[in-house]
Amino acid sequence: MTRRKLVVGNWKMNGSRAANAELLAGLKAAGPWVGEVAVCSPAPYLGEVALSLQGEAIHWGAQDVSAFESGAYTGEVSAAMLAEFGCHYVIVGHSERRAYHAESDQLVADKAKAVLAHRMTPIVCVGETLAEREAGQTAEVVKRQLSAVIHTLKSCISQVVVAYEPVWAIGTGKTASPEQAQEVHALLRAQLQAATEHAGDMKLLYGGSVKADNAADLFSRADIDGGLIGGASLKAVDFAAICRAAG
Ligand code: 13P
Repeated sequence: MTRRKLVVGNWKMNGSRAANAELLAGLKAAGPWVGEVAVCSPAPYLGEVALSLQGEAIHWGAQDVSAFESGAYTGEVSAAMLAEFGCHYVIVGHSERRAYHAESDQLVADKAKAVLAHRMTPIVCVGETLAEREAGQTAEVVKRQLSAVIHTLKSCISQVVVAYEPVWAIGTGKTASPEQAQEVHALLRAQLQAATEHAGDMKLLYGGSVKADNAADLFSRADIDGGLIGGASLKAVDFAAICRAAG
């Protein structure tokens, strides 16, 4: 089974119109890559990012979405709005949203459903905290998080990308070792296999302090199909090097 690798930049709450333009210009000049590449910008910049990437082999996505279709949800952005601009990916359930916005497993699943309903691809994030890992609960936590999404999407689960992001590795410089990451990815793949016959075609990304010098080793593992990149996606040379490592 050869799955095309995917590298997604999650800019988080970073950037400016000028910085984004410089970053995108650098990326466009650095490509094309063998694998697929995407960037997820903050909501206000999405339209501008979409324009800048027109005709380019770089997809763009959002970092969050409302689970609701439309209506009185001040401050929220709907899946229909993102789809209208040609959005490709939507990150849902990032640990920062689970932690700072109290997003539950079910809300994350509902968001994934809203994204699919508008023919975009959800990138569903799962991952354990340091305390959970130290308590030996890693498998239990990621299975619970993924199970809510499987239960809600049923056979449509095959249309999502799953990102394993151990919370203790995000922005800390502490990457999960390729063995640690592969171990969890294999568990997630097995869980997906029980839910869909297409699990072997699904992309499972690793995220958490991925850098140019550790990306190739991580991406070479059997069930690691690319990465979700935070800090290192903000500089074109760094992100381009990671994209090359997925070649
Ligand atoms: P860092 O690459 O900065 O650790 O962030 C990972 C992440 O959270 C991507 O979504």
